[in-house]
Amino acid sequence: MAGFAGGALASAVTLAGGLGLVGSAVDMNALRKELRIASEAIESKTGASSMTTLAVGVGFLPFIAELEEALPVVAEFKPVVVWLFATKELDHYAEWATAMRKVSPDTKIWVQVGSVAAARHVARTAKPDVLCIQGANAGGHGFERGTGIISLVPEVFDTLAREGFSHIPLVASGGISDGRGVAAALALGAQRVVIGTRFLAADKVIVHTKYQAAVLEAQDGGQMTTRSKLFDHLGSPNIWPEVYDGRSLAVQSHKV
Ligand SMILES: Cc1cc2nc3c(=O)[nH]c(=O)nc-3n(C[C@H](O)[C@H](O)[C@H](O)COP(=O)(O)O)c2cc1C
Repeated sequence: MAGFAGGALASAVTLAGGLGLVGSAVDMNALRKELRIASEAIESKTGASSMTTLAVGVGFLPFIAELEEALPVVAEFKPVVVWLFATKELDHYAEWATAMRKVSPDTKIWVQVGSVAAARHVARTAKPDVLCIQGANAGGHGFERGTGIISLVPEVFDTLAREGFSHIPLVASGGISDGRGVAAALALGAQRVVIGTRFLAADKVIVHTKYQAAVLEAQDGGQMTTRSKLFDHLGSPNIWPEVYDGRSLAVQSHKV
């Protein structure tokens, strides 16, 4: 969650038994700062300075981040996971994965996709260590054309198994916020889940208090949120690749 999930949140998630991710966009110095925060928090709790990797992941958005600027950060901090989401072309995941593995061989590559076709393509080309299958309920950016994890995860699972990629574990994302969602995702064929929106309620998330209050007040999510490109078009030309839109609260701006 670029701009929302910094080192404090990511390290807290890891220290609680999950895998925290620090989100990043274009500012690699800001990312360094957050990774230092994560590293110090983990070290002070576990004394784990001798670990070969930093026990949080780093999320990159390759369509806006510069690979040449991201590589030195990964080489320096060696995050346990590099998470990739949103490229201009599907083949760019392979380019990023190869380059990341070269500078930090112990770092695992996780790629988030939202269709059977993309999962198959990325499995073949980027050889990810994990594929995250994002369903249409997901908050934040996702795919304009998509479906929920209830049909998407089994379809991806079966396709990958048929084509010889059953060694790639799947994790599911989109609309999961408690144990019931986790149990459902496991039944669908995922091995773990990814949770985004729920962390907008966390103490350690980087968010304006009014934004957080609006999320907390929202009920009946299918009515109070909507998928759209509205916020990508506001202010400046939409820089996101064509296939992406985003799920957000349906605020006043959507109604005018
Ligand atoms: C506020 C917010 C920001 C997000 N930013 C990113 C991002 O920078 N990169 C990314 O890969 N995914 C991002 N996501 C999407 C997550 O990767 C994930 O698919 C989603 O949060 C899962 O669905 P959930 O929000 O229903 O838990 C974001 C999600 C939210 C809610």
